Amino acid sequence: MTHPKTISLAALGMSAALVAVALAGSGTIAVAASPAASAIATRQANFKKMGGAMKVLKDQISSGAISKPQAVAAAKTLAATGRAQAGLFPNGSGASAGVKTDALPAVWSNRAAFDGQMKGFIAQADKMVAAANSGNLDAVTAQFKAVGGACASCHKQFRADT
Ligand code: HEC
Repeated sequence: MTHPKTISLAALGMSAALVAVALAGSGTIAVAASPAASAIATRQANFKKMGGAMKVLKDQISSGAISKPQAVAAAKTLAATGRAQAGLFPNGSGASAGVKTDALPAVWSNRAAFDGQMKGFIAQADKMVAAANSGNLDAVTAQFKAVGGACASCHKQFRADT
């Protein structure tokens, strides 16, 4: 007869969203995601979220009208997510992590430059919050280009397949 077992992920110091825990019949616990793999999955999901926020802004620019609440929300997503990304490239979360990542080894061998790129991006995202708050189409359009430039500049140096 098997006994139901519950495991508190909080007690293990893990986030349920990031870790798949399998409880085998023997009672042993298999943790599927290493900390490095979790960081990779989280930063990739965050970059997708940033892509989604950029699309919201792009669609508004294309439509010729800025809808302030959505534009401000998208800009804030860019700024907040950029800040979170800075902590999601721990040592060992490159190719050696054993899961698919497009982060180039230069992230870790040229860390100061990478951190500088992320800082530069965050500064542009903060300016996007201000531009969105103005509700001005020209200001949002100009700042969209600056933010996109910051994405591309980092990708050129630190992301494979671009
Ligand atoms: C400071 C560097 C940096 C900045 C700034 C940056 N990226 Fe990236 N981006 C990366 C790296 C490195 C990867 C590869 C991550 C991985 O695979 O572990 C990546 C991956 C991605 C991916 C693929 C995610 C996936 O599913 O694998 C998307 C989409 C993306 N970035 C969009 C953006 C957008 C949009 C912006 C700007 C709004 C942006 N990035 C800004 C470095 C950056």
